[in-house]
Amino acid sequence: MELKRHIPDLELRAWPDGVGDPKDIEFTLVWNVQPGMYKRFHNLKGILSFGAGVDHILRDPDLPKNIPISRGVSSGMVENMNQYVVHWVLHVHRNFHYYGELQRRSEWKFRRNPHAALRRVGVLGTGILGAAAAEMLTRLGFPVMGWSRTPKSIPGVTSYSGAAGLDDMLSKSDIVVCLLPLTAETTGILNAKTLAELPEGAYVINPGRGAHIIDADMLAALNSGRLGGAVLDTFMQEPLPSTDPYWKHPKVIVTPHCASWNIVSIAAAHQAENIKRVMRGETPRQLVDRTHGY
Ligand code: NAP
Ligand code: GLV
Repeated sequence: MELKRHIPDLELRAWPDGVGDPKDIEFTLVWNVQPGMYKRFHNLKGILSFGAGVDHILRDPDLPKNIPISRGVSSGMVENMNQYVVHWVLHVHRNFHYYGELQRRSEWKFRRNPHAALRRVGVLGTGILGAAAAEMLTRLGFPVMGWSRTPKSIPGVTSYSGAAGLDDMLSKSDIVVCLLPLTAETTGILNAKTLAELPEGAYVINPGRGAHIIDADMLAALNSGRLGGAVLDTFMQEPLPSTDPYWKHPKVIVTPHCASWNIVSIAAAHQAENIKRVMRGETPRQLVDRTHGY
């Protein structure tokens, strides 16, 4: 309904029962895509994602070609992700995980943390969300590095790119935050080799996607003591099955894919503008590059 505030004559139809004649459908606003859904829509002009990641949309073999797909990253989503990243970086940096353990044992012990200037944070993916989080972290005094496909110029953030850049940045990252999209190139990017490149005792924070991590390698790195811990928001299987070892692992914090979400009113304004753009024959904002997969 929020969309109609921006385009009053828009006719909204709800999937699946309220779709009516599929030939009438010009745009779909989606989060999860039901397989086979796109086989039915032959007059589509655009696909509007309600989320930032479009990996699940692009995976659909029936996705029509040559139809623009626009991502739905609103300022509200940036705000939420900034809060998630800052919260967990500070949690790890200030030893709050350790105080949690002590409380369960009724122990009163102080553990000094290093100066923020000595805790290096590497952000994998410096797109809309990663760049904003990286910049926010610089304001807390952390030395921040960012890795992206193409070099970036973000105030106060050292830019790395390419395979060599990844190794270089990881070797200096006391905390790694993964905000990459899930693509063929980034699947399994946090694996035995890359985790071994991190400094001893490093932490991984992953609000990206579960498939960025090879879970067996992550568990091995945690169990061997190489990694200090991990904060995981996304998983190969969601909801995370109750038997999954991450749930009870003493060095892992699990959050239920809640790092960030859209504020409906802001996201609706963004996608309403995209509908107007497409109808005018223009390129929508946050257009997905299908070649690169994000
Ligand atoms: P974005 O704007 O598309 O940015 C993606 C970044 O990753 C860009 O900097 C891009 O490099 C970089 N990248 C992509 N492929 C790469 C590669 N092969 N090597 C190096 N860098 C690569 O995406 P975003 O809006 O920031 O969102 C990032 C991801 O966050 C989403 O895709 C989604 O999976 C995740 N997310 C999670 C939640 C949650 O609640 N857990 C919420 C929202 C989003 P270039 O800058 O050079 O293009
Ligand atoms: C959430 O995970 C998103 O990609 O928007």
